[in-house]
Amino acid sequence: MTQGEERYGDRLYSHQDPGEADRLGALAGVFDPYSFERLRPIVRPGFRSCDVGAGLGTVAQWLMSTSGAETAVVDIDLRNLGGRGFREFQADITDPAFAPGQYDLVHARFVLMHLREREAVLRRMAQWVRPGGWLVVSDAWDLGPATSSCAAYRETAAVASELGARTIGSDFNAGRRYPRPMVDLGFSQVGFAVDVPVLEGGGTLARFWMSTANAARPALVNELGSRTVDEALAYLADPATHDLGIGMVTMWGRRA
Ligand SMILES: C[S@@+](CC[C@H](N)C(=O)[O-])C[C@H]1O[C@@H](n2cnc3c(N)ncnc32)[C@H](O)[C@@H]1O
Repeated sequence: MTQGEERYGDRLYSHQDPGEADRLGALAGVFDPYSFERLRPIVRPGFRSCDVGAGLGTVAQWLMSTSGAETAVVDIDLRNLGGRGFREFQADITDPAFAPGQYDLVHARFVLMHLREREAVLRRMAQWVRPGGWLVVSDAWDLGPATSSCAAYRETAAVASELGARTIGSDFNAGRRYPRPMVDLGFSQVGFAVDVPVLEGGGTLARFWMSTANAARPALVNELGSRTVDEALAYLADPATHDLGIGMVTMWGRRA
């Protein structure tokens, strides 16, 4: 595999990694309450939804129980999503031929930021929304780690995002460009929110960062040395730590 060909899940963040479900569980544990707060005013009983890059399916589960209607999940890997009553699509959303149908609500969280083709995928996702339906997209904005006073946390997070950018094309600041794309798509009632969770040492968000650092440990150690990486991990584990994690930018809009 040459550089520029590797994609999310091929090696980095593979669902086959023993720690991946725990990493995604920590991510969901931190951000689900914010996502539900953003989605609650939009979702109506009977809304058919599609969660794109659904991961462990926590948002899809919430959508299904809130709307009481058909909920579709799309992911390259369905191992955590199968047999739960979802309409299942195992698919690569960068494939221009893939189309799961049309829905009252299409949602994607922390997915587009990991795709080189994010702009084209967003344009196609907009077509999966029925006229009058809603598109809700959340991605990261590095508001916390990048400005932390702890140098080891700051440097380790910076190298981890740089590594993600170099190997699979991730952009940990993809959300900074929102909500402009929703306006450019011609959507109306466009809204925007930024949620920045507190990172408490040993807490759920710290667990997410520790798993992320451990998933990429050899490359991080290669660039920073084990001392800095271990110092960052100790900072994340220390109950005295009160810092900020990455911000989640959510944009939403209604299709004409
Ligand atoms: C960072 S996880 C986010 C999971 C979930 N949306 C959440 O926020 O809890 C990204 C998810 O997108 C999926 N994904 C990544 N690239 C994809 C692609 N090209 N096609 C379909 N799914 C993809 C991954 O398998 C993973 O489940």
